[in-house]
Amino acid sequence: MPTPHNKASADDIAKTVIMPGDPLRAKYIAEKFFDYYKLVNDVRGMFAYTGFYKGARLTVMASGMGIPSMGIYSFELFHFYGVENIIRIGTCGSLDKDIKMLDLILVDRTFTESNYSQALDNVKCYDCESSSKLNSIIEETSKEMGITLPKRNTICNEIFDPYLPNIDTMLNIIPEDLHIAACEMEAFSLFYNAKREGKNASCILSVVDTLDDVEGLTPEERQYGVDTMIKLALESAAKLEPKMNP
Ligand code: HPA
Repeated sequence: MPTPHNKASADDIAKTVIMPGDPLRAKYIAEKFFDYYKLVNDVRGMFAYTGFYKGARLTVMASGMGIPSMGIYSFELFHFYGVENIIRIGTCGSLDKDIKMLDLILVDRTFTESNYSQALDNVKCYDCESSSKLNSIIEETSKEMGITLPKRNTICNEIFDPYLPNIDTMLNIIPEDLHIAACEMEAFSLFYNAKREGKNASCILSVVDTLDDVEGLTPEERQYGVDTMIKLALESAAKLEPKMNP
């Protein structure tokens, strides 16, 4: 089942995949949290590992940055590898004063100005929902773990917004009724592909910048936020797969 971007065989990929953006974060998750894992893809350095977390067989694979990169990898996982569930774990910038540094959010709907759906299907879709099935498992797990997890809408940009000369360029195009809480760059193509392929996708985000925080996080703080998100994703994903004796 290899593709131009993934050399894993069909059996190498689990039905439930956790997708960070960063390949080194995929490596970190496998090394720190998986038992009996193996590297199943390294084409273009977009690492995928399949292993066991508390007896559940899972894959962790990087998506790279941006809608097109997530679009390629998630499409291939759903369409060619028979993947059923993808949970993206990523970082975001807060656009809401109630959403603070290091908070985690679960994405409800994401809005975009991207032409991804137009390019793929000649369909004008600019607003896509996450999976209510996965979300309810993630929300239940967050309660069990004592993690606060507001479910909010986000914008999925084609630009890393801190680089915008004027942030209003982005803020002015957001439909007010969507009450956008944060911005990131990958959830739209993931949710759109899931809907198109009849699969499930959700996204948990850790806030690493806000409109008024110019100091940023220390590397330790950033790692703490990311680790909490990783554990939440792993515990949730493990509920989707049968427990095995590896
Ligand atoms: N925007 C702002 N901050 C971020 C983003 C983004 O897209 N991703 C991670 N931090």
